[in-house]
Amino acid sequence: MHTVLITGANRGLGLEMVKQYSADGWQVIACCRDPAQADALHKLKDNIKILQLDVSDAHSIKDLSRHIGDQPIDILLNNAGVLPEDQVFGTIEAELLIETFKVNTVAPFILAEVLFKNIAASRLKIIANMSSVMGSIAQNTSGGNYAYRSTKAALNAITKSMAIDLKAQGIKVVVLHPGWVQTDMGGPNASVTPEDSVKSIRKVLSNLSPADSGGFLRYDGSTLTW
Ligand SMILES: NC(=O)c1ccc[n+]([C@@H]2O[C@H](COP(=O)([O-])OP(=O)(O)OC[C@H]3O[C@@H](n4cnc5c(N)ncnc54)[C@H](OP(=O)(O)O)[C@@H]3O)[C@@H](O)[C@H]2O)c1
Repeated sequence: MHTVLITGANRGLGLEMVKQYSADGWQVIACCRDPAQADALHKLKDNIKILQLDVSDAHSIKDLSRHIGDQPIDILLNNAGVLPEDQVFGTIEAELLIETFKVNTVAPFILAEVLFKNIAASRLKIIANMSSVMGSIAQNTSGGNYAYRSTKAALNAITKSMAIDLKAQGIKVVVLHPGWVQTDMGGPNASVTPEDSVKSIRKVLSNLSPADSGGFLRYDGSTLTW
């Protein structure tokens, strides 16, 4: 049985990932900030272990690692992310940037470091970082969104380095753009349902070859420009 660890698993794309992977018979380690409030997760019973994880908290990451021990993890899905609302030039506080970096950039990297041995011990050996087309510098034609764009662009850079550094261990590392998805973050007018986005992402990950590692992939598997 394969194992996937998903951050931000209590709602949105993370919750849909939990639903689909568990329905498919995977062992799912569903991580969320507040398990006691994660009602939707508790309703899903099969093959799911719910663990507390605030990705911006180093102690929380250490506790998670202790809980997991040496269990192999086939896919680390760094999904948790934040999109701050107030990102207009001239009004942005340093603290907003720093807090957004902690969640969107630093956490996926530190989790990869902390869980490296678990991933290396697995069969699939995949680290999938949820980025966004808004992290593409080439495709930025509308400006703004300083915190979100820069944190996702930095996540892209980190992913590329990890793909190179972890190649020898057979670990594949990619960044994904899930589409504009109907979640709390994407809003109700988004063009893609969580079901379709996750279904496509799962297909992309299941077909991932070593040559794909280091790629910036849209949910349909096509490549995005950096
Ligand atoms: N939806 C889109 O259109 C879209 C497009 C491009 C990229 N993405 C990316 O896809 C990922 C998932 O997005 P989504 O649409 O599902 O967003 P969402 O509905 O807003 O859900 C965000 C998830 O991240 C979790 N999270 C935030 N900060 C956290 C922290 N410090 N520790 C642990 N968990 C934390 C949230 O947990 P709480 O409930 O505790 O806040 C929630 O589970 C994000 O990385 C996002 O940037 C989304």
